[in-house]
Amino acid sequence: MAKKAAVIYWSKSGNTEKVAHSIKEGLDEAGLEVSLLKVDEAGDVDYFDYDLVCLGFPSYSWHPPKPVDDMLKKNFRKHRSEGKIKPSSPRVPGKFALIFCTYSGPHTGLDEATPAGDYAGQFFDHIGFTVLDKWYVLSEFHGWEEGNVKGRMGDIRGLPSEDDLMKITREAEKIAKKL
Ligand SMILES: Cc1cc2nc3c(=O)[nH]c(=O)nc-3n(C[C@H](O)[C@H](O)[C@H](O)COP(=O)(O)O)c2cc1C
Repeated sequence: MAKKAAVIYWSKSGNTEKVAHSIKEGLDEAGLEVSLLKVDEAGDVDYFDYDLVCLGFPSYSWHPPKPVDDMLKKNFRKHRSEGKIKPSSPRVPGKFALIFCTYSGPHTGLDEATPAGDYAGQFFDHIGFTVLDKWYVLSEFHGWEEGNVKGRMGDIRGLPSEDDLMKITREAEKIAKKL
C-alpha cells in the first residue's frame, strides 16, 4: 500500500505555496499518496493518519504566522487530551515530519527564520514524530523593494527560482524514497 503524506501550508504572497507544490510533486513522483492542504482546510486533519506530514509557512517576525500557530496549538491540546504527549517523547515508528519555512532575511538573515522552524518542529517532536529536516527557502519579500535588494541576503528578487524549486522537488523525492 502506498505511504501517505500531507503537505499542509499557509502562504500570503505565494512563496510558500510554490514550495508546497514543488514538494508535492517530488512526493508524487516517489509514489506517495499526497494530500495538499491549506492550513484553513486542515482543521480536522489528524497527523497520525499520515506517514509523513510536511508543514510550511513564511517566517513572520521569526515566528510562524498566527493561523499556523493556532493550528499547531489546537492539535497539541488534542494530542495532550488523547495522552499522546508522554515523558521523553518516545518515537512513534514510521511517523515523520518535514518543516519548510520561506523567509526573506532582510535584517538578520537566516537567523530570523530558524526560530520559526525550530518552534514548529517541536510540536511534532513532542508527539513522537521524527523531524527529518527543516528547510529554509530564501524568498522574495513581495511589496518591499528595499528589503529585496538591501537586506542581509543581498538581491533576492525572483526567489525562489525555478532552479530552487526543481531542487526542492528532487529533495522531496529523495526523502519519500527513504520512508
Ligand atoms: C508581516 C511579515 C513579517 C515578516 N517577517 C519576516 C521575518 O521575521 N524574517 C524573515 O526572514 N522574513 C520575514 N518576512 C518575509 C516573509 O517571510 C517571506 O517573504 C515569505 O517568503 C513570504 O511567504 P509567502 O509568500 O508564502 O506569504 C515577513 C513578511 C511579512 C509580510
